[in-house]
This record gives sequence, structure tokens and C-alpha cells, in this order.
Amino acid sequence: MGLFVINRIAELREKIKNFKREGKSVGLVPTMGCLHNGHASLIKASSERCDVTVVSVFVNPVQFGPNEDYDKYPRTLESDKELAEKNGAAIIFAPSVAEMYPGMNKFSDITMVAPPFHMVDMMCGKSRTGHFDGVCTVVSKLFNIVQPDYAFFGMKDIQQLYIIKKMVSDLNFPIEIVPCPLVREESGLALSSRNKYLSEEDREIAVSISKSLFAIQNAVKNGIIDTKKLFDAAITVMDRRVEPEYIEFVDRKTFEPVDTIKKPAIAAVAARVNSVRLIDNILIGE
Ligand code: PAJ
Repeated sequence: MGLFVINRIAELREKIKNFKREGKSVGLVPTMGCLHNGHASLIKASSERCDVTVVSVFVNPVQFGPNEDYDKYPRTLESDKELAEKNGAAIIFAPSVAEMYPGMNKFSDITMVAPPFHMVDMMCGKSRTGHFDGVCTVVSKLFNIVQPDYAFFGMKDIQQLYIIKKMVSDLNFPIEIVPCPLVREESGLALSSRNKYLSEEDREIAVSISKSLFAIQNAVKNGIIDTKKLFDAAITVMDRRVEPEYIEFVDRKTFEPVDTIKKPAIAAVAARVNSVRLIDNILIGE
């Protein structure tokens, strides 16, 4: 079919209207670009399930804090087009900031969608104040613009996935959220656009973040359920040049913090390697 690259909301709406008139189902894969095989797995999952797959590529300013990497976030639209097309996307929607937030000078100029406090008063929400408001706001806008039947989110950003599911339920978006498994390099390192910031040496150090999660998973398999002990098991295998920000344990159903692993849970970590902030998580207690 070929790939359409669309920058304007009105044009995208027109195109989607025509697809829907033909009775086609629409899948949306929201991204910030710099696409890698993690994104590819979402695009593939969408094109297998839906007639038309829209990949949005938009580095969303309102989800970045003032001291974060918005300006230097990698922008690689040419190679993104190739990867998206190869994995079955029909449309790349790549709007400008002015198209998405016309007339916005500061974040307080726009209506924001805020997730419930208990879902952000933990994990990444603690250090990234306002981040998930920015995510929910842009994802709501994309949902309203594209009106997909399905939207695909990676389990790499596990807190984001649970927050989006909650938003869709609370705000009655008629969209099914499809969670997709976390994709790793052979080394174990979770694929991330931010891995681009890592030197060869940093990458080797960063591999120990996933190792620490595998250590937790093994310890749980060996009957250790106390999260304090699991925390220690993780820290023991983490390279000492990694600066952990948190290692937290949450219930897989409720996403609430747990002290002992008695039911299916998630161990999640955020850590810095040479000031690059990375996140990862693993399913435990099957
Ligand atoms: P981005 O970091 O580009 O991620 C886009 C989607 O790809 C997210 O759903 C993320 O979980 C998924 N993804 C990234 N790395 C992955 C991996 N290694 N395995 C599986 N899935 C992976 O997340 C965002 O963008 C933004 O916050 C966004 C939702 C687009 C809103 O701006």
C-alpha cells in the first residue's frame, strides 16, 4: 500500500475517515520516534490485528521536565519511516509542536489530563513531576485525532501502560489497549531510544540493570518473597557505577506496592548510567 507521512491533523482525520468508511479497523502505535525493534514489535502486533496501522512520531514537550532531555532527544524520521513501513504501518503521523499545541507558550496554557495521584506517587512519577500528566494529555489528543479501535503500548514503560489503561477506563475512550511484551537485546539490555546516549562502556555497565532484575526473578523462583531481600539480591549484581533511583515491587493486578511476593507481581527499576536515565522491569511470582 505504501506509507503516507502526514503532518497535519485535518489531513489525517480525512484519511482515517475514508478508511473507516471502507469498514477498516484502525490501530495506533504512539511513539516519540527513534524507532527500534521494541517499537517494531508494537507496529507488527498492530498490523497483524488491524487493517490500518498509524504510527505517531512526536517528541511531546509537555511530558519532559525542565532539566530533562527534550532538546537532545534523538530525532530520526527518515529511518523511522523505513522501520514503520517494513513492519506494516500505513501512516506515520508526525505533527509539529505548533500543530499539536497551537499558541502554547507554557504548559499551564493548555488543558491537561492528570492520572490519579496514587498511580504517580511511586516509581517514575516521584522523580518526574508532571511527566504522566504530559503523557496522558498527548495520548488523549492522539486518541481523539486518530480514533483508533486498538492502541498498542509496550510493557517496557510499565507504569505508563497501567496509567493509560486507567485513563481509557475512567474517561470512556472506546479503544482497546493492547499490551506488548518488553523487547531486549541479546545482552539482556532493554531496548530504548535513550540507549543512543550510551557509550560502549556505558552499555556494558547498563546490562547489569537487567541482570539485577533476572536476579530478583531467580530469587523469587527459589522461594524468596520478602522484597527487602529481593532488593538486596538486585543491588549485589548491579555494577557499582550504576546509580539506582528506585527498585519497586507492585502487584500485577492492582499496580499497588507490595512487601512480599505472594501473587503475580512486577519488579521495576530506574537507574542512571553516566547520567543517562534508564528503566526496566520484569514479571515475577507467576
Ligand atoms: P516511546 O518511548 O517512543 O515508546 C513508544 C512505545 O514503545 C511505548 O508504548 C513503549 O512502551 C514502547 N517500547 C519502547 N521500548 C520498548 C521495548 N524495549 N519493548 C517493548 N516496547 C517498547 O512511550 C512513549 O514513547 C511516550 O511516552 C508516548 C506514549 C508516545 C507519549 O508521548
